[in-house]
Amino acid sequence: PEPGWSESTDVLVVGSGIAGLTAALHLREQGLHVTVVTKVNIDDGSTRWAQGGIAAVLDPLDTPEAHAFDTEIAGVGLCDPAAVRVLVEEGPTRIKELMRLGAEFDRNADGSLMLTREGGHRADRIVHAGGDATGAEVQRALHAAVRRDPWIRLVEHALVLDLLRSADGRACGLTLHVLGEGSEDGVGAILARAVVLATGGMGQIFASTTNPAVSTGDGVALALRAGASVTDVEFVQFHPTSFVTASVTSVQRPLISEALRGEGAHLVDDAGKRFMVGQHELAELAPRDVVAKGIHRVLRATGDDHVYLDARHLGKDFLERRFPTIVASTRAAGVDPATELIPVAPAAHYASGGVRTDLHGRTSIPGLYACGEVACTGVHGANRLASNSLLEGLVFSRRIADDIARDLPAQADPAPRTGEPGWVAAPEIRAQLRRAMTRGAGVLRSAESLESTAQELGRLGEQRGEPRNAAWESTNLLTVATALVASAHARRETRGCHWREDHPNAADEWRGHLLDSMDRHGML
Ligand code: SIN
Repeated sequence: PEPGWSESTDVLVVGSGIAGLTAALHLREQGLHVTVVTKVNIDDGSTRWAQGGIAAVLDPLDTPEAHAFDTEIAGVGLCDPAAVRVLVEEGPTRIKELMRLGAEFDRNADGSLMLTREGGHRADRIVHAGGDATGAEVQRALHAAVRRDPWIRLVEHALVLDLLRSADGRACGLTLHVLGEGSEDGVGAILARAVVLATGGMGQIFASTTNPAVSTGDGVALALRAGASVTDVEFVQFHPTSFVTASVTSVQRPLISEALRGEGAHLVDDAGKRFMVGQHELAELAPRDVVAKGIHRVLRATGDDHVYLDARHLGKDFLERRFPTIVASTRAAGVDPATELIPVAPAAHYASGGVRTDLHGRTSIPGLYACGEVACTGVHGANRLASNSLLEGLVFSRRIADDIARDLPAQADPAPRTGEPGWVAAPEIRAQLRRAMTRGAGVLRSAESLESTAQELGRLGEQRGEPRNAAWESTNLLTVATALVASAHARRETRGCHWREDHPNAADEWRGHLLDSMDRHGML
């Protein structure tokens, strides 16, 4: 739709999790005016749900090389070594800055940072806060810092629609819908000298996910419509242990942090057998894709919808002190982890791919940047290492702010828009879309399952809606789901979190990245 109102700012940041808010704060250090727009409320994104922590080399016995090694092993040949080096070398400094900003991480009795371990790490290098409430503490500290700065304008309840570009192709703003703003349908434009996408992930394309309701792939869909390079979208990581309980009816499932396994909890089947032992040298602490696959095999063999996590031997006091969030959410559903087994199953957790960026967060469109889960910086490859995601948001948002400050042109006028869809999907398609994605493009995939999912998505796309928020979101869900299915179909191998039943091994010819575009997938 044509914008009914417009305003301008130096830099427009879309999203208010760790990546967006950190970018905004660093841009302010550069003296720039920043507008942050966010889809619902400032704290509604994924960051505040993060439990385990942030990985970084903070122990004198640990090294950036060791952190890079573990990251690249998890990424199964698809990590960009230069991006990984940036991540592991700059991470510790960014965490110290976050502490100076007010984030309080858990400490040992001697005052040193308490470090834990998660799947795929061969050293204790994960800082955490409030036991298992790391994301909530990080979000609290960043939110407070942003509120303290009068030059950061925050616009909540703002769904971004499409990128505006100047006559020479540079990003110069966005159209968006802001609840209660301007003309009757609330569609307006914010013009900016640079645009930063930090919109988070796309977990809501699946029937169960650890992601909150706002994670509908808006940034990747916008980038695809704008013609930006998007890559690696087939690599959606399934967290092995989301809590399975009939009392949670939303698509978002409570996370049972990998840190619980890091502290010694075991995965067991119905008969109490530790089925991960013997499958990988790290057993329950193998990289996430290995554990998710191990669980999936048990579920397929038994027909059950869950296996169990046994944390009873860790003791009531330790569990309550170290994992208050998990203990509260499981007890609220009638399961006491101190005395009972916790039913768990994999759920969609993290999009390792996204809008392709370089080491400075620049996308293929000049003036358009991306950081956090929406971006594909190259650090995660085919499977993200635990607790590297908050770190990536911290490290690359800082690099984006530095790059923008180095070279920020004057505000350009938007050129007439092209390439946007002439239709929107019906809001009602969501449940069917999620079921189809989980059935055919979830943990386990095959050419046949992906082809039938593509057909189902095609049928859903024939149902059209009115241009309103719910329909725009459904259009985004359909756009990213279609891109994911096409890439997953094209990649005829098993690598990282992309598991093809009909191509069970990794193949050298696939050691590369698939680029997604609207043209390739024939969406429009
Ligand atoms: C967890 O706490 O298990 C999640 C950490 C992550 O996704 O990196």
